[in-house]
Amino acid sequence: ALTPARAASRLAFDAVAANSLDTITVPNGYRWQILTTWGDPLWSDAADFDPQTRGTGASQERAFGDNNDGMALFTDGARSILAVNNEYTNLVHTFGNRPDGKPVDADDVRKGKAAHGVSVMEVAEADGGWSVVKDSPFNRRITADTPMEITGPARGHDLLKTEADPTGTASLGTWNNCGNGRTPWGTYLTCEENFNGYFSSSDADYKPSEALSRYGVSNKDWGYAWAMADERFDISRHPNEPNRAGYIVEIDPFDPASTPKKRTALGRFKHENAELVIDRSGHAVVYMGDDERGEFLYKFVSGGTYTLGGDNSGLLESGSLFVAKFNEDGTGEWLALTPQTTGMASQAEICVHTRQAASAVGATTMDRPEWVSANPTKAEVYCCLTNNKNRGVKPNAGGDATPTNGPNPREKNNYGQIVRWMPENGDHTAAGFTWNLFVLAGNPTVHKDAYAGSANVTADNMFNSPDGLAFDSTGLLWIQTDGSYDNEGDFAGMGNNQMLIGDPETGEIRRFLVGPKECEITGITWSADRRTVFVGVQHPGEDGNSSFPGGEGSVPRSCVVAIKREDGGLIG
Ligand code: FEO
Ligand code: CA
Ligand code: CA
Ligand code: CA
Repeated sequence: ALTPARAASRLAFDAVAANSLDTITVPNGYRWQILTTWGDPLWSDAADFDPQTRGTGASQERAFGDNNDGMALFTDGARSILAVNNEYTNLVHTFGNRPDGKPVDADDVRKGKAAHGVSVMEVAEADGGWSVVKDSPFNRRITADTPMEITGPARGHDLLKTEADPTGTASLGTWNNCGNGRTPWGTYLTCEENFNGYFSSSDADYKPSEALSRYGVSNKDWGYAWAMADERFDISRHPNEPNRAGYIVEIDPFDPASTPKKRTALGRFKHENAELVIDRSGHAVVYMGDDERGEFLYKFVSGGTYTLGGDNSGLLESGSLFVAKFNEDGTGEWLALTPQTTGMASQAEICVHTRQAASAVGATTMDRPEWVSANPTKAEVYCCLTNNKNRGVKPNAGGDATPTNGPNPREKNNYGQIVRWMPENGDHTAAGFTWNLFVLAGNPTVHKDAYAGSANVTADNMFNSPDGLAFDSTGLLWIQTDGSYDNEGDFAGMGNNQMLIGDPETGEIRRFLVGPKECEITGITWSADRRTVFVGVQHPGEDGNSSFPGGEGSVPRSCVVAIKREDGGLIG
């Protein structure tokens, strides 16, 4: 029988206790299975994952990518098509066949590029559970080499022109695809986050422009070595190439032959996800975070309006871009980014140098905006501010000072918080909003002050570094974490990264899932019948201490899991 407390709650499951096990833990009455894992082939003529070599360029191009992140399931009534971001690679695992995990030749670079991007695949449920439909005509790999069309205000601008593309309209590839979005017209939005980490300079004396430095582009990449085999990643030779990344890309999951479209109108920054709502006026409103310390929260409002069943393919091509200013008194406003307000020469330039434009209008610096999600049952929007461990230290040249402020109240913010805002008159296109904090994460067993967290944080549900965030159709908020899993000191009692569910009305938060060792839980989507929730496990064993999901002695691999109720009931 339900306890009185549980009966009064909308969170109808027994909380999962924190743990540091190398597996997935879900509540009593639920079960999980693996759907697909890094390196699993999407076609029957492709090679199975080889734990010795960790794959080749050719095998990886035909297989599920690495480090899966945001995802969305689409259905046309007959089929289920799952689009999944593959954010990056853990060099030590991807290139575990090489000394120190360092790519050494052109095929290693080809493999690395193919492990990034988006995996699109048909999935189906049978008695044995969910599986990928190999050889489905909908299966597709989009990688760092897939042709893309550049659309919107920056299309054709001088800043986007390169030797290989003198028109500035067609680029190659998408990489570091973090969170996602989806549109009601059936397209997938993939968000380019840490695109800078793939560029390097063959000329050690090369000085990247201040504009590139603001985005963290430097003479050294993060170990991927793509410039070794593809000169477009050499900034001393192709300084405009980084201007062609850092966008939201729109993909039609039902047309594998379609060219993905980079939507420059939504700005260029380290895009986390893209939460799209159709306002009552019919405009598409997209909320977006820029995940870096001291960067900002943005909103795009389409120029055109959505038509049910009509042609909405141009809706994300043009519109207005705004950045958030939070006032201390619980109000806030969306500041327009235009040539007039920013002093920039054109909207095209604003769509390339979006961070600089936001600084020019005095936007509020944030503690790393991660996923944004809008409540489907009322006009309110939530955003994870994951943490800020180095307040005051500017991450990039030209960034703003990062004092504490209303939504970012703690000096050393190692726990994170979730802010929510309510648009004026329930109108997502309005300039004004009010805001408050849904939760300030913390550890009440270690601290008594602000680091204990807000009243809805207890010894039983504590967590750190909220990152993934999504409302289900009933208006419950699913929270995924990407933080410290050492379970010591400030983080004692929190265990591995996890997923919790919050009730926006009561503030109650309850832990639903604990992931395996050294993973992040990120990415969530539901089956059409809402009896399955798909959840992503990213980088288990990132420091070498996991063998999930294969078990003892196996290479740890990122994967997508499907979770169901034992009784087959609705889950979100
Ligand atoms: Fe890719 Fe901000 O997480
Ligand atoms: Ca994230
Ligand atoms: Ca994160
Ligand atoms: Ca991650």
